[in-house]
Amino acid sequence: MGSRTYNIITFGCQMNEHDSETISGMLQQRGYTEVVRKEDADITVINTCSIRENADKRFFGTLGQLKKIKAVNPEQITCVCGCMMQQEHVVKEVRQSYPWVDVIFGTHNIHEFPDMLDELVSAREKDENRITRREGGMTASEYAIAKHDIRSSKKTRVEKIYEDKKEIVEGLPAKRKFRHKSFVNIMYGCNNFCTYCIVPYTRGREKSRHPEDILAEVRNLVNDGVREIMLLGQNVNSYSGISTLNGEKWDFTDLIYALDELEGLDRIRFMTSHPKDLSDRLIGAFAECKSLCKYIHLPVQAGSTHVLRRMNRKYTREDYLLLVRKLRKAVPEITISTDIIVGFPGETEEDFRETLSLAEEVRYDSAFTFLYSPRKGTPAAEYDNQIPENVKHERFGRLVEVMNRCSCEKNAAYVGRVVEVLVEGEGKRPGSLNGRTDGFKLVDFEGPSELTGEMVKVEITDSNTFSLKGRLI
Ligand code: SAH
Ligand code: SF4
Ligand code: F3S
Repeated sequence: MGSRTYNIITFGCQMNEHDSETISGMLQQRGYTEVVRKEDADITVINTCSIRENADKRFFGTLGQLKKIKAVNPEQITCVCGCMMQQEHVVKEVRQSYPWVDVIFGTHNIHEFPDMLDELVSAREKDENRITRREGGMTASEYAIAKHDIRSSKKTRVEKIYEDKKEIVEGLPAKRKFRHKSFVNIMYGCNNFCTYCIVPYTRGREKSRHPEDILAEVRNLVNDGVREIMLLGQNVNSYSGISTLNGEKWDFTDLIYALDELEGLDRIRFMTSHPKDLSDRLIGAFAECKSLCKYIHLPVQAGSTHVLRRMNRKYTREDYLLLVRKLRKAVPEITISTDIIVGFPGETEEDFRETLSLAEEVRYDSAFTFLYSPRKGTPAAEYDNQIPENVKHERFGRLVEVMNRCSCEKNAAYVGRVVEVLVEGEGKRPGSLNGRTDGFKLVDFEGPSELTGEMVKVEITDSNTFSLKGRLI
């Protein structure tokens, strides 16, 4: 076939980004090379996200662009995967309206993708033979039409989607974006069924990796020059891994303590933790473990206990505020970020004001704020007290104002301080670099690009809402 280049378009969260790194790793292992533009690729992969409606829209928009590319290059192999492919109605729509899509796979069978490509290639060869046999009596344009018909027909598509899977497939390669930092999946899936959220349906039930597998992976990464890891899971602190050595159960905090022992690993981060599972022991680990970054992303979603109950979050406003107090008591300088949904069905003005007051009380370093987006198949999408769009937008604007003011004030407090920064790479302005502090603050400063991957000291000279500016010391 001669198909040798690929391009991956990724939507969604870190989980998807990491899955794309695995897909990339598997393709490179088979000798494919990555290209920047989808126009130049023999294979394109769209890794999809279902979390909100605009993620859906972007997927179908991208498919539309690929159709044009495919009209020019009918040999291009188009693959779609990710969370949207775990939704029956989406797969139906792809089959019906985008029959030229060649490969469809889900979130539970990424490891099978290379085999699916092989299957597609041999199916295409068979088609090719069929046309070649008939070719004698064909003009060049008839041949082109026959080939085009075959490429856009359903016959040559390869589809594999599992509902869920008990086993975790270990040992898949991954092509990292950065040399000095890496994602590490510790668990998959989610059991929480927050009433607004599609993830439990697209990622299946919680499954934790064995601690030894995680430790071995991290050791290899450290040997390869990685200094910072981000432990990934939809709900990392409900991690429950069984030791392959003695059958003992490890919880998330056990894992943190073990990782903290690893020589050469400077920073451990994790994402995301659910407030209901944030134990006192884990809070204590922030104070005790030298490599655990003093930063936590702790999604609150809403400030009203009434709304939280209907979201099925399993904590109250007071429970959450208590956790924040405990975290700040254990580690006064800890930075905290959050996710908030505005306009959940039935959210009253009163409820919304509780979100505003909670935000004022916690004073987050940063926040991701979302307009509630009904997701087909989730309970909240069926609730009959949906909030009108204009009300959602109006509340959203007020919340963002509070959040930005807090972020701005928090960042301003860093001016004059010296912070340690792990350099991520070149910044936006020529000659500038950026990196992150232990507390996940983005810092912009001038310096040579050779410092990428190094830990440096920077004096903060200026700040704004989303980042700090500084001078290399
Ligand atoms: N597992 C993570 C969240 C993953 S989704 C956790 O529990 O924190 C990331 C964020 O998207 C969620 O925290 C939530 O704020 C937001 N989100 C999820 N479903 C949504 C929906 N239907 N509409 C708007 N925002 C949503
Ligand atoms: Fe979604 Fe809730 Fe699970 Fe997070 S914990 S992935 S918000 S269901
Ligand atoms: Fe999106 Fe799936 Fe992540 S729905 S947010 S890519 S788990």
